[in-house]
Amino acid sequence: MKTNELKLLYEGKAKKIYEKSSDEVIIYFKDDVTAFNGIKKDSIIGKGKINKLITSFFFKMIEEKGIPTHFISDVDDNSFVAKKVKIIPLEVIIRNYTAGSFCKRYGIEKGIKIQKPIVEYSLKDDDLGDPMICKNVILSLKQVEEKILNRLEYYSLKINNILSSFLEEKNIILVDYKLEFGIYDNKVYLADEISPDTCRFWDKDTMESLDKDVYREDKGNLIDKYSEFLRRINI
Ligand code: C5P
Repeated sequence: MKTNELKLLYEGKAKKIYEKSSDEVIIYFKDDVTAFNGIKKDSIIGKGKINKLITSFFFKMIEEKGIPTHFISDVDDNSFVAKKVKIIPLEVIIRNYTAGSFCKRYGIEKGIKIQKPIVEYSLKDDDLGDPMICKNVILSLKQVEEKILNRLEYYSLKINNILSSFLEEKNIILVDYKLEFGIYDNKVYLADEISPDTCRFWDKDTMESLDKDVYREDKGNLIDKYSEFLRRINI
């Protein structure tokens, strides 16, 4: 894809968004990897391609199960066409097992199964360090309407069932992950990405990480682990 002919609308830590038309964008997955709100960063050749492949795969699966996603069609190794949604400035975090900031915040051991999946929200704001926010504060700050917030939670839990049961068959635990949503024509769409950058995936037998924790915690070669995840889900 000749991105130099397109208008760059936004560049994030791991993706670039180009304008394709008035209602479509092209999402380009970069090789850049960052952790701890950008304090640790590197470029790892091949990462963008793997994350794009995994995101398209999961978005197609989720769309087939009746949840609208911004994914429209594949372009090339690193990019796909998506609906030009207006991103809701919230990160929706779903947790099935204790890990990461949850353990740190509450002083809980890692790897405990959470009986009923937990849905948390963070305000998408790098300068504030994406602070956690509760539903009441979201509503009082008028970030989103209650009807939309309820839909985000409903979709997030449905997506959790779809992904967890698919991955369980591959002997992989979906520990936790982050979703983002957008609005187009007053309708909610799943947006952004679902990849090992935004999820924790553990091998069910060894509890080994097949995700960005490998990079965050210097636990080995990121491409090897992401490729192993690809191989396990057969794409
Ligand atoms: O850091 P924490 O434990 O809260 O992360 C929970 C999940 O959300 C992890 O899978 C992490 O990769 C994802 N996440 C993300 N982007 C963020 C924050 C969390 O993808 N800004």
